[in-house]
Parts: sequence; C-alpha cells; structure tokens
Amino acid sequence: MSSEVVRVRVNPDQPDVEAVARAAEVIRRGGLVAFPTETVYGLGADALNPQAVARIFEAKGRPAHDPIIVHVAGVDELARVAREVPSVAQHLAEIFWPGPLTLVVPKADVVPPVVTAGGETVAVRCPAHPVALALIRASQTPIAAPSANRFGHTSPTTAQHVLDDLAGRFDLLLDSGPTPVGVESTVLDLTAEIPTILRPGGVPREALEAVLGQVAVVERGPGRNMPLRSPGLLERHYAPRAELWLFTGPTEPVVEALCQEVRRAREAGRRVAALVADEDVARVRAKAKDVVVIAVGPSHEGAVVAQRLFAALRTLDAQNPDLILARDFPRQGLGLAVHDRLVRAADRVVDVTVGTGVLPFESD
Ligand code: TXA
Ligand code: MG
Repeated sequence: MSSEVVRVRVNPDQPDVEAVARAAEVIRRGGLVAFPTETVYGLGADALNPQAVARIFEAKGRPAHDPIIVHVAGVDELARVAREVPSVAQHLAEIFWPGPLTLVVPKADVVPPVVTAGGETVAVRCPAHPVALALIRASQTPIAAPSANRFGHTSPTTAQHVLDDLAGRFDLLLDSGPTPVGVESTVLDLTAEIPTILRPGGVPREALEAVLGQVAVVERGPGRNMPLRSPGLLERHYAPRAELWLFTGPTEPVVEALCQEVRRAREAGRRVAALVADEDVARVRAKAKDVVVIAVGPSHEGAVVAQRLFAALRTLDAQNPDLILARDFPRQGLGLAVHDRLVRAADRVVDVTVGTGVLPFESD
C-alpha cells in the first residue's frame, strides 16, 4: 500500500469518467479504493479477488469473522453473487435499489469465503450514488466494501474522515464531499423465517413493513444480550474516544437529566460536550456557558439528524472532552438508525424512567 494517498475530487452528480476509470483500474489490479456512497464512504476492493478483500481487513483492523457487503451496479447483478435469489429479495431490490438497503441472501460459489467470513450468506446492495455506481460499472466486478473507518470507529461521511482514520492504508480516494444519508444501509436478513433487520439504516423500518407486512428487528440495548446474528452488531461500535453517556426516555426528562449532568460534571471539573437537538440548545447552554454543544437538527427530523450525526460525533471528539453527553432521538424513520448508533457509541445508557439513573452497559 502506498504511503501517499491519491485523493481525486469527483463531482457527485456527474462523475468525471477519467477519475472513475483510474479508480476502477486500481480495483481491477487488486488495490483498495475509498469511495462515496449515499450512506457513508466505503473502502472497496474487487469482491471476487480474495487477496484484495484480505487487504480491506488489514487496512481497517477488522476481525476476520465480520463479513463484508458486496456492492453491485443493478438488480440484475444480484443473481451473480447469490446462489439463489428469493422472490422477496428480487421484489425488494426492484423497489429499493439503488438505495441504502442491504439484502442478506444465500451466497454463490464465485464469492470467496473471506468476503462472507466463511458463512453461506452474502450481504448485497446497490448504492444510490452516481460515483459508486460508475466505479462498480467501470471495474466490471462487484465491489466488497465496509465503511472506510478503523474498526470500531464512527463511519466516515466525508473524505477527510476517511483520511483521518486510514491515510496510507489504501491506494486511492474519490472525494465527492459529504454523503447525503449519513448513516449506513439497513441490513435485512432474508434467510431468516421472517425478514429481519440486523442493522437499522438508511431505509426506514416503516418502508420495509409497508412492503413486507411483518419485519423483525434485532434489537440491542442496555442489559440485553443477543446472539451475534450479524457480527457487526458488536457493542461499543461507532465509538468516539471520549466517554459517551446516552440519555434515553421521554424527551422532557431526558433533556432535564442531561442538563443536570452537564452541571454536575462541570462542578466536578470535567470537560463536557453535549450532543442535542436544535430545540435543546438554549436550555443546555443555560446550565454552563463553556460547554461545547452540537445540535444535529430538529429531534423529529430523523433524516436531518442522521445526515449530521457521525460528523458531530467526530467534531465533539476532536474537542477532546472528558465526557460527551448525548440525548436520544425518536425512533421513527431514520431516527431508529440514529438511536441504534448512539446506543452503540455509548459507554453508558441512562434510562431516565429508571429510578436508579445510570445503568452500566452490558456487552458480550
Ligand atoms: O451503507 C453501508 O452499508 C456501508 C456502505 C459503504 O455501503 N457499508 C457498511 O459496511 O456499513 P460495514 O462493513 O461497515 O457494515 C456491514 C454490516 C456489518 O454489521 C456486517 O456484520 C453485516 O453488515 N454483514 C455483512 N455481511 C453479512 C452477512 N452475510 N450476514 C449478516 N450480516 C452481514
Ligand atoms: Mg462499519
């Protein structure tokens, strides 16, 4: 891997053909390309080249048991990487692709085991980003790509985030500015009896329910131990360096508890930062003038909050606080993904409806 990263700026709406061809050449030669998708930046390699895919794991410090999503350029390419395409998968792909929906289906032999972590299923998605689509087409191969961050860190929504985590660990970066969705794709397991959301993301649960009727959600929270259906569901993912406490429950007591904790932590001499909704800012600031406050949008606009969340976590972390205090958000629409990422970034989840206050977070 080169120590000098080549960073190429590409118009997200009209990708420059030469820039894309250059990146595709890197893919075809078994190299690593960081590229934008509509959700987050991905770190891509030729999905059919096991050596190339192995380099992804190395670059990210990702454990080999965590499988990687295969990106294709259209619905018709699903059959190339799936052993069989269940009719429900075909139906969902036709409705939601290109878009932030990843479908877990039986894997075809052509997909090397390193991609699926030895498993018999493969996660497939067709991203809705002109640069990602152009790259897959020009590479003439499906592209295996996890989020382009160090394992366990917050996913990158800008090219700079990618460089902050992985500079020197890949060959070429296509920089198309901030990603529009901001949280990763929804991962839907279609090999389960009931279609099961393994990771809430860019396609809301409600949209899947409207098509499928019943959808199960693998839910994780404080005090709840789940089998590792999706190895990426490891706790303390998306984590900033600073300690993070998440306040969850009804809005009014949540904001009140967060404000009280801001004051308490300030009195204890701790450097605090707060992640809140737009409507909470004045109230939090009133508690302590010098607290760093980032507002990620109106609490009920899940799509706005999702788009800003990861950048906000990185910005807060860069202030090097002792403690980040975050409020939870309503779980409708993209709010469910926001909630999920905050829970997984948290060292502690404070359920304000529980009298004892702080629950230590239980991990596997
Ligand atoms: O939006 C996204 O999905 C981004 C962009 C780059 O496409 N990618 C992404 O990849 O977030 P990654 O590797 O950071 O997360 C993929 C998730 C992990 O939780 C992984 O365990 C799960 O999908 N996954 C991958 N293959 C799977 C499989 N065969 N069965 C179950 N879960 C799988
Ligand atoms: Mg990831």
